[in-house]
Amino acid sequence: MNNKDFIQNLPKAELHIHIEGSLEPELMFELARRHAVNIPYTSIDDLKAAYNFTCLQDFLDIYYAGADVLRTKQDFYELTYAYLERVSQDKVRHVEVFFDPQTHTDRGIAFATVIEGISEALVQGEKDFGISYHIIMCFLRHLSEDAAFDTLKQALPYKQLILGVGLDSSEKGNPPAKFQKVFAAAKRVGFLAVAHAGEEGTHENIADAIALLNIDRIDHGNSITNSQSLQQEVKDKQLALTMCPLSNLKLQVSENLDNYPAKQLHDEGLIITINSDDPAYFGGYINDNYLALDNALKLSKRDLADFAINSFKGSFLSEDRKAALIDEVERYYNEQG
Ligand code: ADE
Ligand code: ZN
Repeated sequence: MNNKDFIQNLPKAELHIHIEGSLEPELMFELARRHAVNIPYTSIDDLKAAYNFTCLQDFLDIYYAGADVLRTKQDFYELTYAYLERVSQDKVRHVEVFFDPQTHTDRGIAFATVIEGISEALVQGEKDFGISYHIIMCFLRHLSEDAAFDTLKQALPYKQLILGVGLDSSEKGNPPAKFQKVFAAAKRVGFLAVAHAGEEGTHENIADAIALLNIDRIDHGNSITNSQSLQQEVKDKQLALTMCPLSNLKLQVSENLDNYPAKQLHDEGLIITINSDDPAYFGGYINDNYLALDNALKLSKRDLADFAINSFKGSFLSEDRKAALIDEVERYYNEQG
């Protein structure tokens, strides 16, 4: 079996997916029509032509503008269900989905509208596709810590639906220290914590996210390659990294994938996972990311199976379900590898 076919049916989890980043142009236009929202593009092709980013901020500007078509609970439901339907074809067995409440509440959309639409789709998706899930809400780091505190307060009535808090948006100029108090408060009430760090920022941001925010997993983490001691610390603490190759390529975090550090870091004993980030904007869902990495690095089936195993190991699933899913990967590897 070739690696493409091996990847296709390899059981895996996705741990770094912004649900708003799965908004495909077709659905964006449909929702714009539904709500009579003006979008400054004449056609789907015209919109796709704008997906030519030179940095994270370039992308974020278009991504936040695109999210404006999401207005009702039904919109969030359709967005989330479409993502699940799509990744069920990629043999995704578990997802940990990010959403950005402030992108919506700042436009006057109720927190309840957003969380209820997303979570009801996840419940239905688990029934229809057998995909288990967790929900993580991210604070937008270009906004203030007070605004993050306000979001945390709004989330408390829905605490049973939300497993953790995250930190995303513009990394440059918005270091982890800015959110130390709100992360401490979130952890005190029982949320897990993750943070984007070392995507466009330095390895100090990764170290600070660990030391100051007490995170349970690192999102991206590319610049960890600049510090041997930090790699050792992350390895000792068994903190997983959710890496996103096609995102890094599109946002020019990585010039190409020929020297992409996922395999090297994996070989050094770190828990590296492969994810899509914002698949509608970066030209590929999770299997496209596995494939792009395989094409660049000429991975073995053992490497590919290990990345899939890491996706369960690095997840926030129970130890029992982790073990069952890892066993599924090993059986698949033994039969197909
Ligand atoms: N929000 C959505 N995608 C993001 C990324 N790659 N980095 C930071 N914030 C984001
Ligand atoms: Zn991200």
